[in-house]
Amino acid sequence: MMSRLVYLFLFLVYNFNIALAKNPSVIIVGAGPSGIAAATKLLENSVTNITILEAEDRIGGRIHTVEFGDTFVDLGAEYCHGEKGNIVFTLANNLGLLEHSDPLSSENNKIYDSKGSAIDSELALELKSTLNTYDDVDTTGNASLGDAFLKKYNVTVLKKYTNEEQNLEVATDAIKMLQDLIVMHEGSFTWQQPAAGRHYTACEGDQALTWKRGGYRIILDILMKSYPNPDQKLPIDDKILLTKKVNKVIWNDNGVVVRCSDNSSFTADHVIVTTSVGVLEKNKASLFEPSLPKEKLNAIEATGFNGIMKIIIRYPQKWWKDDDVNFFFLWRKRDLFKIIDEFPDGPRKDGVSWASFISAIVKVPNNANVFVVWVSGELVPEIEKVSEDVLLRGCNYVIKKFLGKDYNVTDADKILRSQWNTNPNFLGTYSYEKVGYFKEDFSYQAQLAEPLVDNKGKPIVLFAGEATHPTLYSTVHGAISSGLREAGRIMDLKK
Ligand SMILES: Cc1cc2nc3c(=O)[nH]c(=O)nc-3n(C[C@H](O)[C@H](O)[C@H](O)COP(=O)(O)OP(=O)(O)OC[C@H]3O[C@@H](n4cnc5c(N)ncnc54)[C@H](O)[C@@H]3O)c2cc1C
Ligand SMILES: *[C@@H]1O[C@H](CO)[C@@H](O)[C@H](O)[C@H]1NC(C)=O
Ligand SMILES: *[C@@H]1O[C@H](CO)[C@@H](O)[C@H](O)[C@H]1NC(C)=O
Ligand SMILES: *[C@@H]1O[C@H](CO)[C@@H](O)[C@H](O)[C@H]1NC(C)=O
Ligand SMILES: *[C@@H]1O[C@H](CO)[C@@H](O)[C@H](O)[C@H]1NC(C)=O
Ligand SMILES: *[C@@H]1O[C@H](CO)[C@@H](O)[C@H](O)[C@H]1NC(C)=O
Repeated sequence: MMSRLVYLFLFLVYNFNIALAKNPSVIIVGAGPSGIAAATKLLENSVTNITILEAEDRIGGRIHTVEFGDTFVDLGAEYCHGEKGNIVFTLANNLGLLEHSDPLSSENNKIYDSKGSAIDSELALELKSTLNTYDDVDTTGNASLGDAFLKKYNVTVLKKYTNEEQNLEVATDAIKMLQDLIVMHEGSFTWQQPAAGRHYTACEGDQALTWKRGGYRIILDILMKSYPNPDQKLPIDDKILLTKKVNKVIWNDNGVVVRCSDNSSFTADHVIVTTSVGVLEKNKASLFEPSLPKEKLNAIEATGFNGIMKIIIRYPQKWWKDDDVNFFFLWRKRDLFKIIDEFPDGPRKDGVSWASFISAIVKVPNNANVFVVWVSGELVPEIEKVSEDVLLRGCNYVIKKFLGKDYNVTDADKILRSQWNTNPNFLGTYSYEKVGYFKEDFSYQAQLAEPLVDNKGKPIVLFAGEATHPTLYSTVHGAISSGLREAGRIMDLKK
C-alpha cells in the first residue's frame, strides 16, 4: 500500500516537473515575415515543437519575389523604408544587400500630362515637393488625410498660381494625380479613408532602399539563416505546412486546437495568428471559438485595409533616356472622360476608365527593361480581375498617350500583375489608421496585439503581423518586429 502511494506520488511529481520543464508547443498561422520571424526566434531559443500553417503554396506572404524574364521582381514589398531602428536594415545592410533608389523625389522623375506634354518645371517641382511632404498636414481635429491635404495644398500651391491661368488649371487637375499617388502610399482606396493624424513613425534614414539582387525574398533567407551560409539554415522546413488554410481556432485554458479547411487539426499550448487584418475582419465571426472579445473587434474595425495594384511590364527594347527613372501621369480633366472612346476595354467608375488610375510607372532598379505600373483607387479589386491581355493593352495605350510625343515608345511585351485584394488570404495590401477612429493617445495596433489569455493570465492566442505594430504598421520591418515580440512573449513563460 505504502509503496504504491510513494510510487503514485513520485509519478505525479515526475510528470508535473516534465510539464513545467517541457517546451511549449506553438502553432503559427501564416508564413509571412511576421510568422517566419516568430518561428526562427523560437527555434533559436530551443522551442522546437512548432508548426507553421500557411494557406498559400509558398512562404513569404506579402513578400513575393517572382522570376520575370531573366530577372526577379517584387509583386509585394519592394523597399526598405528607413535605417535607424529598422530590423530589415539591420539584418541586410551589413551583408551589402541594399542600395539607394528614389521613387518619388528624384530630379529624374518627370511629370507628363494626358496631352503628352511635360509639366512646367517649376510646377513639377512644386508637385513633387508637395508629394514628399504629403503627411505633413494639420493633424488636430478629425479630418481625413485628403481634406487636411487639400486645405494645405489650396493655400500653398493653388494660391501661388491664381494669376497664371494655365498653371492654375494644371495644378487643379493635378489633384487627381496627387490623390492617386498618396493613396498608393497609404494603401487606402480614397484619401478620405485614412485619418490625417497617424502613429506611423518613419525610421530615420533613406526611405527607399532597394535590393541589389534577388528581391525582398532574401530577408526570409536571412531570418531562416540560409543566407549567406546555406549550411547554417535553421531546421524550419519540416515545420512549415503549405496549402494549410486555417478556418477555426478553438481555445480554452488548456491550449488550442486549430482546424484547417482540409479537416486536419493540430493541437498546441499556444497559437500565434499572423493573418492580415483584412483576413481577420472578413472571418472574425467564424475563425475564433469562443469569439473575439469586443476590444479586439473594435481594433479590427478601427484599422483600414484596402489596397493597391502593381502591374509589371517589360519592354523588348529601351525607349527611355539613361537618366529617366520614373514618370508620373497627370490626367487633364477633359481627357479623363474622352479616353473611353479610345480605349473602351475593362471596368470603369463614374464614366472613367480603369486605365486612368495608372498614375506612375517606376523603373525597377537592376532590371534593365522593366517598369512597375502603379494602379490605385476604388477600382483596384475590379482591375485585378481583368485579363492580362487587356491590362497590357491598357498600359501600352496610357504610356503612349502620355509619353509618345517626346519618346518613341514601343509596346511592352510581357506582363505580370498582383492580385492582393481579391486573394482571400490577403484581401488587401497594408493597413492604415481610419478616419473617425484616430486618437493621438491610443493605439488600436497595441489593442490588436493583446493576447487572449487563460484564467491565470497566460497567453494562449497571440497576435502578430504588421497591423499589430503601434508605430511601424504597414511595413515588413513592422511585421518582423511583431513576430519577434510574440515569440518573446512565449519565451518569457519558460523563465
Ligand atoms: C503591393 C505591396 C507593396 C508593399 N510594399 C512594401 C514596401 O515597399 N516596404 C515595406 O516595408 N512593406 C511593403 N508592403 C507591406 C509588407 O509586405 C507587409 O507589411 C508585410 O509583408 C506583412 O507581413 P505579415 O507577416 O504581417 O503578413 P503577411 O505577409 O500577409 O503574412 C501572413 C500570411 O498568412 C497567410 N494566411 C492568411 N490566411 C490564412 C489562413 N486562414 N490560414 C493559414 N494561413 C493564412 C497568408 O497567406 C500569408 O502568407 C507591401 C505590401 C504589398 C502587398
Ligand atoms: C474626434 O472624434 C472622436 C470620436 O468621434 C471624438 O471623441 C473627439 O472628440 C474628436 N476630436 C476632435 C478634436 O474633434
Ligand atoms: C481645394 O481646392 C479644390 C479645387 O479647387 C476644391 O475642390 C476643394 O474643395 C478645396 N478644398 C479646400 C479644403 O479648400
Ligand atoms: C470535412 O468534413 C466535413 C464534415 O464532416 C465534410 O463535409 C467535408 O467534405 C470534409 N472536407 C474535406 C476536404 O475532407
Ligand atoms: C508537440 O506538441 C504536441 C501538442 O502539445 C504534443 O502532442 C506532442 O507530443 C509534442 N511533441 C514533442 C516531440 O514534444
Ligand atoms: C523617334 O524616331 C524618329 C524616326 O526614327 C526620329 O527621327 C526621332 O529622333 C526619334 N525620337 C526620339 C525622341 O528618339
